[in-house]
Amino acid sequence: MASFTSSTRTIPELGRVPRHVAIIMDGNGRWAKKHFLPRFAGHRRGVETVRGAVRYCLGHGIDYLTLFAFSSENWRRPEEEVSLLMQLFSRALMQEVSKLESNGVRLKIAGDLSRFGAELQALIHAAERKTAANDQLTLTIAANYGGRWDIVQAMNRMAVERPEKQGQWTEDDLSPYLAMSYAPEPDLFIRTGGEERVSNFMLWQLAYTEFYFTETLWPEFDAAAFDEAIASYQRRERRFGRISEQRVADGNSAAGENRPVDARLDA
Ligand code: IPE
Ligand code: IPE
Ligand code: MG
Repeated sequence: MASFTSSTRTIPELGRVPRHVAIIMDGNGRWAKKHFLPRFAGHRRGVETVRGAVRYCLGHGIDYLTLFAFSSENWRRPEEEVSLLMQLFSRALMQEVSKLESNGVRLKIAGDLSRFGAELQALIHAAERKTAANDQLTLTIAANYGGRWDIVQAMNRMAVERPEKQGQWTEDDLSPYLAMSYAPEPDLFIRTGGEERVSNFMLWQLAYTEFYFTETLWPEFDAAAFDEAIASYQRRERRFGRISEQRVADGNSAAGENRPVDARLDA
């Protein structure tokens, strides 16, 4: 079961570099439009940006990268776009896994996989198995993922496995059942493409995450753009409910600082 710090229960240890970055990769369609190309060309270009983002995280000591690739609401798109996105996903899985493997990347897919075809599900499981022992970076692709789905599926599994605690379940009881329980909560959330909303991404896990929005479209989100997001993160003061003076006394909170603190809320 997961043993990562819950930001609402314990103040986490912080490093200069975010340990977990979660990204809503938005703006592929608009990028394509800007270049007079079909939307699909934007998605294809977006896959190249994913490669760059993985390389960036490997090079900068970021341990977890979570990318929102397809939301539970994206099925509402035209059938043709949905089907092309599924093809692109399958192809990327087939082509990229050995490269991920040789770079020490552990690949995880988070979401309701039951809606995918049997072949795609098999590809997903094979890719996860093949990279399971890697420890340089955990790359999670959120596919047919929704934050509300995640909370409800966790609740259902908890209710089945721990019926004796009904009426007394706690946050700590629920969190191990969340789809990404193998990862700490994100330190930094990035959304490209200019929209400033969460679109049903990691609702539970973003409780104390720092948010960064940029107009840059996903296909143009390069290392320099990533640098800017990290620099913005490093200027934040993460208070976790405390006041500024306390965090100075404790020596922990500014994302740019790196001293652990023992301040368990439940101690
Ligand atoms: C994000 O880009 C990729 C997916 C949702 C699959 P969009 O396709 O949403 O691009 P815009 O928002 O139309 O520009
Ligand atoms: C969010 O992007 C989902 C992904 C990036 C996969 P959308 O472009 O679908 O978000 P909304 O619908 O505009 O909020
Ligand atoms: Mg969009």
